[in-house]
Amino acid sequence: MRDQFPIFRTNPGLVYLDSAASALRPQAVIDKEIEFYSHYSANIHRGVYQISERATEEYEKAREQVANFIGAGHSCEVIFVRNATEAINLVAYSWGRSFVSTGDEIALTVSEHHANLVPWQQLAQEVGANLRYLDVDDEGNLPISHKDLQLWVNKKTKIVVVSHASNVTGVINDVQSIVSLVKKINPKVKVLVDGAQAAPRMPVSMKEIGCDFYAMTGHKMYGPSGIGILWAKEEILESMPPFEVGGGMIREVKLEGTTFAPIPEKFEAGTPNIAGAIGLGESVRFLLQTGMKNVRKHEVELNDYALTKLNSVKNLRLIGPKDPQKKTAIYAFTLAGIHPHDLAQVLSMENIAVRAGHHCAMPLHTRLGITATTRASCGIYTTKSDIDKLIDGIEVARRKLN
Ligand SMILES: Cc1ncc(COP(=O)(O)O)c(C=O)c1O
Repeated sequence: MRDQFPIFRTNPGLVYLDSAASALRPQAVIDKEIEFYSHYSANIHRGVYQISERATEEYEKAREQVANFIGAGHSCEVIFVRNATEAINLVAYSWGRSFVSTGDEIALTVSEHHANLVPWQQLAQEVGANLRYLDVDDEGNLPISHKDLQLWVNKKTKIVVVSHASNVTGVINDVQSIVSLVKKINPKVKVLVDGAQAAPRMPVSMKEIGCDFYAMTGHKMYGPSGIGILWAKEEILESMPPFEVGGGMIREVKLEGTTFAPIPEKFEAGTPNIAGAIGLGESVRFLLQTGMKNVRKHEVELNDYALTKLNSVKNLRLIGPKDPQKKTAIYAFTLAGIHPHDLAQVLSMENIAVRAGHHCAMPLHTRLGITATTRASCGIYTTKSDIDKLIDGIEVARRKLN
């Protein structure tokens, strides 16, 4: 697996433990982008000449590949956007400003990434809706019994937004049960799942989850940056106004007014990130070839190893579940007496890449009574030896900083 990632050759000795921020890219994805730029780098959809037709074919093939990867009903439900943040903003602006109004409720959780929190705060503020937060326990788990969810969702709730997996605790939320329970409480409620951390790490099926919107981001899926995906049910996309308007998303423009193209084009105004979408198609092909069950199995094995190792480090507080089956291979922790940024700095001197800070989840950190953590996060190329080097690096930091 590591041989397929050229960055390990150009950076010998690199211990990359920041895949939750951005995963590294395999040669196949890099080659696919180069193929676009060197063989058919024309604009899509409009050209009648060969290289434009080839670019269009590859772009639409990528949409099919993504649809297949997430078990979507139809590829027209796959909208290419810039990233997960844009996917969520698209829903909050287009669907939210059309269907949420004064006195309605938006149900969200305290463990959301800011990308799945701030757009809803803004929407609530603008339309006069209320936010209702579901709290987590001290491990970061959401309480999801029918009784708990009845306190969260009611007849006024218009949308429930929840992450599939946390970028801090690694907690995997049982989104399938959440969707089914909240829809029992209020059959009209829509559910948006933020899949930014789950899609690269486990099998994901839109049919099984039963949500209405699902957001993903290419750079965490071993694909290019600047490309992401919003998946939404066809009939919901049909009911939504466009998010951005201009070229590429119209059926007919007259001076008196405009009619819009059908989905997915309706939501893809302007020239899209063609190379990015084609590269993302290749990254999902690469993930499917690896097998998402194998990807998940590798994560559980890493969890088994890393949780034991990290828990044996003196004065280290590991955030998140202790059960390796309940989480992704993301380890956020604090080390008594050492600031996370100082620790990350010393680890960097040892060629170990980790991240320190609030990881765009300030409310979750506040809830857990901490201001910042050091986060080591794995990818499909991470080995147990990387974990050993992290543990050694922590001891080096302790000697240097204490
Ligand atoms: C859970 C979660 N949601 C959303 C995002 C936002 O992703 P992007 O920055 O690619 O839009 C991230 C990125 O870290 C994330 O971890």
